[in-house]
Amino acid sequence: MTNPTAYTTARIRSDFLEFFRGKGHEIVPSAPLVPANDPTLLFTNSGMVQFKDVFLGAEKRVNPRAADVQRCLRAGGKHNDLDSVGYTARHHTFFEMLGNWSFGDYFKKEAIAWAWELLTGVWGLPKERLLVTVYHTDDEAYALWHDMIGVPAERIVRIGDNKGAPFASDNFWQMADTGPCGPCSEIFYDHGPAHFGGPPGSPDEDGDRYIEIWNLVFMQFDKQPDGTLVPLPAPCVDTGMGLERLAAVLQGVHSNYEIDLFDALIRKASVLTGTPDLQDKSLRVIADHIRACSFLIVDGVLPSNEGRGYVLRRIIRRALRHGWMLGVRQPFFHQLVETLDALMGDAYPELRAKRDFVGKALLAEEERFAETLDAGMKIFDDVAAKSGGAIPGADAFRLYDTYGFPLDLTQDIARERGLSVDIAGFESAMEKQRETARAAGRFGGGVQLPADLVAQLQPTRFVGYDRLHEAGLVVLALLKDGRPVESIDAGDAAIVILDRTPFYAESGGQVGDTGELDGHGVRFRVDDTLKLAGQFHAHVGTLASGSLRRGDHLLGAVDAERRGSTLLNHSATHLLHGALRGLLGTHVAQKGSLVAPDRLRFDFSHFQPVASGQLAEIERLVNAEVRADHPVETREMAMQEAIDAGAIALFGEKYGERVRVVKMGDSVELCGGTHVARTGGIGLFKLVSEGGVSAGVRRIEALTGQAALDHVAAEEQRLKDVAGLLGGTTAESIDKLRALLDRQKKLERELDALKAKAASGATSSLADQAVEVDGIKVVAARLENVDAKALRDAIDRLRQQLGDAVVVLAGVQDGKAALAAGVGGAAAGRVKAGELLAKVAAKAGGKAGGRPDMAQGGGIDGPGLVQALVEVPGMIGSGS
Ligand code: ALA
Repeated sequence: MTNPTAYTTARIRSDFLEFFRGKGHEIVPSAPLVPANDPTLLFTNSGMVQFKDVFLGAEKRVNPRAADVQRCLRAGGKHNDLDSVGYTARHHTFFEMLGNWSFGDYFKKEAIAWAWELLTGVWGLPKERLLVTVYHTDDEAYALWHDMIGVPAERIVRIGDNKGAPFASDNFWQMADTGPCGPCSEIFYDHGPAHFGGPPGSPDEDGDRYIEIWNLVFMQFDKQPDGTLVPLPAPCVDTGMGLERLAAVLQGVHSNYEIDLFDALIRKASVLTGTPDLQDKSLRVIADHIRACSFLIVDGVLPSNEGRGYVLRRIIRRALRHGWMLGVRQPFFHQLVETLDALMGDAYPELRAKRDFVGKALLAEEERFAETLDAGMKIFDDVAAKSGGAIPGADAFRLYDTYGFPLDLTQDIARERGLSVDIAGFESAMEKQRETARAAGRFGGGVQLPADLVAQLQPTRFVGYDRLHEAGLVVLALLKDGRPVESIDAGDAAIVILDRTPFYAESGGQVGDTGELDGHGVRFRVDDTLKLAGQFHAHVGTLASGSLRRGDHLLGAVDAERRGSTLLNHSATHLLHGALRGLLGTHVAQKGSLVAPDRLRFDFSHFQPVASGQLAEIERLVNAEVRADHPVETREMAMQEAIDAGAIALFGEKYGERVRVVKMGDSVELCGGTHVARTGGIGLFKLVSEGGVSAGVRRIEALTGQAALDHVAAEEQRLKDVAGLLGGTTAESIDKLRALLDRQKKLERELDALKAKAASGATSSLADQAVEVDGIKVVAARLENVDAKALRDAIDRLRQQLGDAVVVLAGVQDGKAALAAGVGGAAAGRVKAGELLAKVAAKAGGKAGGRPDMAQGGGIDGPGLVQALVEVPGMIGSGS
């Protein structure tokens, strides 16, 4: 039927797209693995994700038909296949889905007819090997398969709600717990009786014989959070065909891991890990995981301890552990990126463009985990040996917390050895640690508002974008020792919550405001302002005088100078972010930031130190934007509008539906912070440091305004002081300093020459003192103020001068003795320098060792040494 080499994955992709182009479909590129602005979903898990809004009627497309090849990830979230990878012939974390769509255009009839035409007509799959399923109540789909296509009744299976709830069925597709959904019809391929497994709906359906290759979903509903199904504005079609499974069928192999694409990855992994058996499960895991990891990084995710970054970290570490099982102890995983690029870079130019970055990011994570993987595996072995059947939760937590073993990694290892992991114990250990951390933090996230208070209060209205003073603020709540109180008295440390406030609460890196709240005879000093429960500004401080009750009215006054310097730094941070992305590339993403009155600190993803030339350029770019004196415009808009305007959103940050967008020059960011009116207000931007914080994250610190000028002035003063010491002007300093250093070098050289001369004078007089023992010339002497190197030189010279000789010298300085011995000429056969010097050193309270012809050591300058030197000729005479 098929020619295995003809249907490469590349050809299947293009056949599919061309077929549907011929049916009037628009070809659409794959969306990233990170869904744009969809908080209901961790990763793009199917082709339809990018069309969700089109199904819901919120977005219109010009062409109601589309087709694509979508990269998908099913690891974490509703659809998770991570645990099955390596154990079956067809599960992947990352896979490619071929899909065609109708947005209110064609429906079941065309979807079914075209699917059949492509499979059996274009690709020539034998009809008798195909089975189909329909949702149990979908008579329309049943009739189309039976009457229109001619599939015999015994190969059409009705599948009901087989997952324990209404509409929870293999034949009712849902992207997530809410959103578009509908009944579906699946096409299965029968790999033949040689493989174990039963048809869909049978008890053995999970076997490897009948494999689902294409799912045709008839989207009809929008599932609500309460479970009700609201009809979509128009019925739609969403189809998904797994490229890897289809390739296995068309290439005449059974396992997805034998198709062209995986074959190349597995071969490369086999070379890198020195594993000749291409069927090894670990090679399959590695080949699967390199695809998931590479594309996650391409799509902006980096390994971290939260959210998507943690899923990535888990997948990488799982791959590394499999490498470890194969005996690899060096970074290897990143080297697969090149092979992957050769296989998939044509279809995914975004992979090719970021290939080097992906490699570096993986290498960094490999190096990081290498530090603990080995030790963690030993711990696991110890624990496994002691525990009967289950790994205790506390140990799983120790592996997680100290050795960086994600829980599922520990579970994976346990499963291989027939053990389980005490998950509840793990979670309680984790919770205990969280509590300790909570107790340790006084305010930073440690303050929690009681839930009933949160329910009662209106969110604080922030009026401080353009006002620093505001009267008539109403005290809504007072907290003392973390508990709500009716009133506070002078001296009390407390938190004041108002109906509105000009005080900015710490967020987005910008520090909280300080200042005062004043009333009749009342003064509350605000030391910090925090945001609690995401919406209440908590004024943290002390009541300096009077007493304050709930319901009182106050006048708020923000420390204007402090806020004034802070906002220069905030605006400068945006310009810096823009300059970094412009110069280093758009992989630069903000990883953390501190905007304080006295400085700004900006952490960002980048894999090598920023060169000093680049730093100078960044400083120049930012200052050019400062001088351009752009007006700073802030606007509230819908999230989508902001994204369309090119606003940079922070990865992993939650935004509401309406967002605040801050624009200055070319910089457009989502930001709730306070800013200068025009960039010129920043005055001067001065970089002060650049360094690494963690793998792949760099940190820049900088100053603005008066602080930048003060810094420059202080540097200038230092330069003047240096010039003063050098006796000239600052302009002359470098020349003067260079001349001074040259002179110093020259003097050092002269000094060395003099020392050598003195030493050679000393050695020639030493040569005169040589005594003869059995035809060997022996010199043993103590030299003042001679270091170890000069000692060795002296020994070399003496050996040359004397020929058959044994030389033992002690160079003494500050009560210590450097010892050296050399043996030359015919003496070599009779005396061993190392042994001889060891005896001398022992008598001088020290140690020595070395080769037969040359040895070194050390000891104490004293009578023992003098005596030992005197005895040297005797030691030789006695036949040492
Ligand atoms: N969205 C459907 C699936 O992923 C086509 O199976």
